[in-house]
Amino acid sequence: MSLPTHGSNPHYLYEALEIEMPESVLDFSANINPLGPPLRIKERWREFFDGILHYPDPHAVELTKSIAKKEALPEQAVLVGNGGAEIIMLVANKLANKKVLIIQPAFAEYAEACLAAGCEVDFHQLDEPEWQLDLDRLIPRLSKYDAIFLCTPNNPTGVSFKRNAVKELINECQKADCLVVMDEAFYDFTEDSFTYASLINQFPHLLILRSMTKIFAIPGLRIGYLLAAPDIIKRVKTYKPHWSVNHVALEVGKICLAEEAYMRKTRDYIQLQKQKLFRFYEEQGLIVSNSTVNFYLVKDESLSLFPFLLKKGIVPRHTYNFPGLDGVWLRFAVKSERDNEALMEGVRQWRKQGSVL
Ligand SMILES: Cc1ncc(COP(=O)(O)O)c(C=O)c1O
Repeated sequence: MSLPTHGSNPHYLYEALEIEMPESVLDFSANINPLGPPLRIKERWREFFDGILHYPDPHAVELTKSIAKKEALPEQAVLVGNGGAEIIMLVANKLANKKVLIIQPAFAEYAEACLAAGCEVDFHQLDEPEWQLDLDRLIPRLSKYDAIFLCTPNNPTGVSFKRNAVKELINECQKADCLVVMDEAFYDFTEDSFTYASLINQFPHLLILRSMTKIFAIPGLRIGYLLAAPDIIKRVKTYKPHWSVNHVALEVGKICLAEEAYMRKTRDYIQLQKQKLFRFYEEQGLIVSNSTVNFYLVKDESLSLFPFLLKKGIVPRHTYNFPGLDGVWLRFAVKSERDNEALMEGVRQWRKQGSVL
């Protein structure tokens, strides 16, 4: 049985499991802002049409300026890409044939991209249920590697690593001459949107990867970017296809960056929904990960919750391709109140029919 290695597009999952897909499904496997894209995008959509007659700006000058201003970094420290996924590929190309260490559980794309670039890939496994950095075990390994990949807040656990530990790790990596590729794809869902971006001025070996597709609910459009020292940006850019980010994405990106109120509303909504969900899981005697963002893990050692929900048209993200999680944990996005209630009802029914924890 070969299951899809990413969330979203649930028909692939149903096909792989040979379960008939119900006519309508609620997809909890992709971690997208439940409020949908900012309204201003829809209002201005028609304006973008004329722009498709021309090649887009290959240097994304205007969007780059807006990002640099927001992050208080020079424009040369920003590279806009076709989603975080393109940025991961570009960084992997820069690391071609080098030795990389991936701190896991982690987004599957790091290993896939690095292996495709001919890197030697090793893993550093964090322990459940905290999944925090264990520096005593990790630091002695650093000198063997050219780069480490670290995702904080982490996908799939939703856990934010302790800030002191992350800072110490960045420092130790500098001493060990090891690049730190830090993925902040979900930082703007956390309560205080904490970021390590300001450390780039101080640590030239730190690369920060961002995605705009989750917080602004535009995964079909694709925008992401890299923040790093200008000489790294210059190198990474050499691997980028010239017009990889289309005109509409560039225009939408600029609109999104100004949407402060929408982001605040999103964070409040997610925190409120999560409180309700976590209270429910506790009542049901289920263990959840200590998530700071818009998704979380739920533990089910019986492995029966996954097929039970799928048959009801509720799609969790399986974790069979995350070593250490091995399908025992399921990942769920925090969706709209209505969808979350449908999920809770599904879990309630599963518990009622005699699930053994
Ligand atoms: C941790 C993480 N980083 C990066 C990405 C890539 O995001 P995108 O290419 O949609 O911007 C994803 C997508 O799921 C992700 O989960």
